[in-house]
Amino acid sequence: MRDGKKAVNVVLTGFMGAGKTAVGRALATALGLGFLDTDAAIERESGLTIKDIFANGGEERFRDIESDIIERLSDNKLGSGLVVSVGGGAVIREVNRKRLKGFGCMVCLSASVDETLRRVGSKKNRPLLSQSEAASRETIEALLKEREPVYQDCDVCIDTTSLTVKEVVERIKDRLQAVREGLINSHL
Ligand code: S3P
Repeated sequence: MRDGKKAVNVVLTGFMGAGKTAVGRALATALGLGFLDTDAAIERESGLTIKDIFANGGEERFRDIESDIIERLSDNKLGSGLVVSVGGGAVIREVNRKRLKGFGCMVCLSASVDETLRRVGSKKNRPLLSQSEAASRETIEALLKEREPVYQDCDVCIDTTSLTVKEVVERIKDRLQAVREGLINSHL
């Protein structure tokens, strides 16, 4: 099989509140892989919260730091045999999309706008959604419209709205199996 990295690693993308971190951690355990959350790695490395990075340098500064970690990931500098959860906006930049697609099977998680609001509602750690609920709803709808095409362009897409973490993990495992069989066959 030529496409070794893609067959081993898994990348979870999708909008804020879709469950990437919780599902990523559980999926890594279920598959016997390591787990890396890019937002958590950025906070660990910089010693700053995502909120602080946005406050100090704006969204562009955060995107540059995010792109840097994705570049290192794709250069195999952060290890392999990984499930990686990336922040919801990581796939906005084309260069990141290319690198992530080369690194692993792309899995997109989604949830309805109501469920997204419910999940992110009480947490104040997302700078793009730190307004009133009505304003957050508008932001979510606008960002989803903009990002929808790139979220859809994944190997596997799962709507997590009414599913538990365990159920999402089971579905991803089943779908990954099929994708990997296809990958292996296409490289024989
Ligand atoms: C963002 C999503 C966040 C975080 C940052 C920006 C986005 O990650 O990277 O606040 O642009 O959608 P989660 O998707 O893990 O909340």
